[in-house]
Amino acid sequence: MKGKIVVTGGAGFIGSALVRAVLNAGAEHVTVIDNLLSGTEKNLAEVGSRVDFHNTDIRDLDAVKQAIAGADTVFHLAAIPSVPKSIDDPIPSHDVNANGTFNVYLAAAQSGVRRVVYAASSSAYGDTKVLPKVETMAPMPKSPYAVQKLLGEHYAAAFHSCFQLETVSLRFFNVYGPRQDPSSAYSGVLSLFMKSVVSGNAPTIFGDGGVTRDFTYVEDVTALLLKAASAPGVSGNVYNAGNGNRYTLNEVWDTLQKIAGVRIPASYGPPRAGDVRDSQADTTAAVRDLKHSPTFTLEQGLRLTLDWYRKDLATTSAAG
Ligand code: UD1
Repeated sequence: MKGKIVVTGGAGFIGSALVRAVLNAGAEHVTVIDNLLSGTEKNLAEVGSRVDFHNTDIRDLDAVKQAIAGADTVFHLAAIPSVPKSIDDPIPSHDVNANGTFNVYLAAAQSGVRRVVYAASSSAYGDTKVLPKVETMAPMPKSPYAVQKLLGEHYAAAFHSCFQLETVSLRFFNVYGPRQDPSSAYSGVLSLFMKSVVSGNAPTIFGDGGVTRDFTYVEDVTALLLKAASAPGVSGNVYNAGNGNRYTLNEVWDTLQKIAGVRIPASYGPPRAGDVRDSQADTTAAVRDLKHSPTFTLEQGLRLTLDWYRKDLATTSAAG
């Protein structure tokens, strides 16, 4: 990759995987913007010498401008990425995901950045009647988080048409993999499932376990992000970043138990407010325009992820 590359949220789970992917694609250095709210420098440990790290909050426009100056490509992943958190604590969620995202676009446009690739969310679809979900469907966001992420897409399109900034929005579908932080009640469900398997405690499944998600392995998402940074003729567009399948939470918990060789019945709780019932990506447009087909099956992704959590837990226990 050529020129200065910036990853906002680069110390987070997906952001740090993207930093590695950018370096593997030939960049010598990557600039990371992260306020370490949920990310951690540990996520970048072995690539730290090739990272220009800015402990910057995207709510601070001047600081974002400083960090972005001279960049060719900005990957904008910084966010408070939780549906329930946007309901329980809506103000920071809105400030970061809506106002912070506006700042990133404004700073990029004013600094002459070539392209911004934005981490949008499949939550924008809401409970559409038809599956899989196609980019041409009318969005029906049902949580503040979904609204905020959708707003970012609209800003992307507006900055493309009004400020000649190239933008591509990728709607992430339940990304999972190594380094997803399981330490909060707001953590992604698969990180919590991994923690349960490794610690031998039952996970809580909200609802009857029939909720479906298109679980997408993180390396498929980072591959798509890289392609979105350079693909021609896609500026202003929105693409699904999903695997193309959907599994119930019960199916995923069963599969993970089989892979791990454990038997731990899940606990069940009430359904979670703001949850979409079913989610599955139509990957046709991304395959056609961005030339990326997902390569990891759920089982492959779960195995790789479990390996990482087992090693990480062993290291953490040994260190403690
Ligand atoms: C996730 C992402 C969001 C992304 C969206 C794209 C996280 C934290 N959120 O939202 O950023 O934009 O996918 O589709 O990664 N659940 C349980 N037990 C738990 C936790 C969750 O049953 O302990 C359930 C939830 O109620 C929900 C499903 O698992 O039905 C997925 O929840 P979660 O991992 O939080 O992801 P999404 O809300 O789908």
